[in-house]
Amino acid sequence: MLKVENLYKTFAKNKPDEKNIFNGLNFCAKAGEFITIIGGNGAGKSTLMNIITGQTFPDSGKIR
Ligand SMILES: Nc1ncnc2c1ncn2[C@@H]1O[C@H](COP(=O)(O)OP(=O)(O)O)[C@@H](O)[C@H]1O
Ligand SMILES: [Mg+2]
Repeated sequence: MLKVENLYKTFAKNKPDEKNIFNGLNFCAKAGEFITIIGGNGAGKSTLMNIITGQTFPDSGKIR
């Protein structure tokens, strides 16, 4: 099971190009479950994958 709990991420906080990506994202994928992440260019799909794999740190929240 993969659980994303209360995930927050903002790039360039308090800067003119501040990008708020996640504001309390939650989801749970069960073992063997097929899920699709959809979103326009720049929505945060790659950032989500990078946080799940530990390449990028969230501001807060947990990956279990
Ligand atoms: N390391 C970074 N520093 C600053 N901004 C970033 C960084 N990585 C991604 N972003 C910005 O965060 C937003 C989401 O990016 P990304 O996760 O790559 O979107 P997607 O994969 O959905 O197209 C974009 O506006 C992107 O420019
Ligand atoms: Mg991407």
